[in-house]
Amino acid sequence: MKRLAVLISGNGSNLQALIDAVESRQLDAEIAVVVANRADAYGLARAERAGIPTTVVDLRTVITDGGDRGDYDRRLAGVVAAHVPDLVVLAGWMLILGSVFLARFQDRVINIHPALPGAFPGVDAIRRAHAAFGAGNVGETGVMVHYVAPEVDAGPVIVSESVPIQPDDTLDALEARIHDVEHRLIVDAVRRVL
Ligand code: GRF
Repeated sequence: MKRLAVLISGNGSNLQALIDAVESRQLDAEIAVVVANRADAYGLARAERAGIPTTVVDLRTVITDGGDRGDYDRRLAGVVAAHVPDLVVLAGWMLILGSVFLARFQDRVINIHPALPGAFPGVDAIRRAHAAFGAGNVGETGVMVHYVAPEVDAGPVIVSESVPIQPDDTLDALEARIHDVEHRLIVDAVRRVL
């Protein structure tokens, strides 16, 4: 059975999609660990409910200990490596991972991003796409899952899908549609990579 490590920062709805796919046997894999960078990430409760081991590696704690980003990445890599994952899935993980982490899991780290390849990298991608539509600059946005390269929200694309924006779309409506696509694509991407 292939082993996944899932890294989260918040709600964990993409993690939930993976948990549901494993439980319903749509995904032939095991979630070996869920790691959050903050203790209040709701996804931790989702993991605990599913009986999955969880760990919090809080950046603030590392800095308080006198460490820096390199130390954080090393500590995180150690926690993840202890669970011997075949694949590391960044599912709403809101920290940029440096080469210290990426070198340890070469070609085994993937990320979901709520925009099309090359468009709207970084935070608030859905809000920025909605605003760009309002300004007449784009007609669609989308979702991609990609291998993680040292740049933000870039790297070889595994799957992507466009999501049209409707003239009467509120930001909430667009967000909901994008999340639905994400939950399908993240399972699809993990299955393809495995
Ligand atoms: C998703 O839209 C993901 O693409 C983005 O952050 C959001 C996380 O959602 N990077 P969730 O925590 O999986 O519900």
